[in-house]
Amino acid sequence: MNNKVGQTSDSQRLLDGQTTERMNKTKIQLSWSNVQISTNPQAGCCGKKGDLEPKTILDNVSGSVLPGQFLSIIGASGAGKTTLLNYLSGRLISKKLEKKGEVHVNGVDRDHIKGFSSYSAYV
Ligand SMILES: Nc1ncnc2c1ncn2[C@@H]1O[C@H](COP(=O)(O)OP(=O)(O)OP(=O)(O)O)[C@@H](O)[C@H]1O
Ligand SMILES: [Mg+2]
Repeated sequence: MNNKVGQTSDSQRLLDGQTTERMNKTKIQLSWSNVQISTNPQAGCCGKKGDLEPKTILDNVSGSVLPGQFLSIIGASGAGKTTLLNYLSGRLISKKLEKKGEVHVNGVDRDHIKGFSSYSAYV
């Protein structure tokens, strides 16, 4: 059995772009490092008080999941589970949030993969 992922052919296929059908057959290792998401301070407006303190939602979160693995993300309400899943799946999240961090798919920077968000989803 060959458990290695991130081999050149798989990585190249990711970069080249491919049909969803072929992508479904590719073994995927997803890893993320130093993900930091925070709110920007908001100026007050129109008689309303501004939110002057930036709030950190995710503070340097790193992790990875291997092909065939089932990963549970557990946390209290407001811990940032949905924010992390939105970020990892490439869903649009508020432009008002400050985002930092890296996401790699089989060692390839997610930002270099064509149509990544159409391959990844959650409900
Ligand atoms: N666009 C945003 N602007 C400001 N704050 C936000 C934004 N999105 C999320 N937050 C805040 O980030 C924190 C984490 O929210 P998130 O929805 O990720 O939590 P959660 O773990 O999914 O919670 P739940 O279990 O209730 O679904 C909350 O305090 C939320 O108010
Ligand atoms: Mg949630």
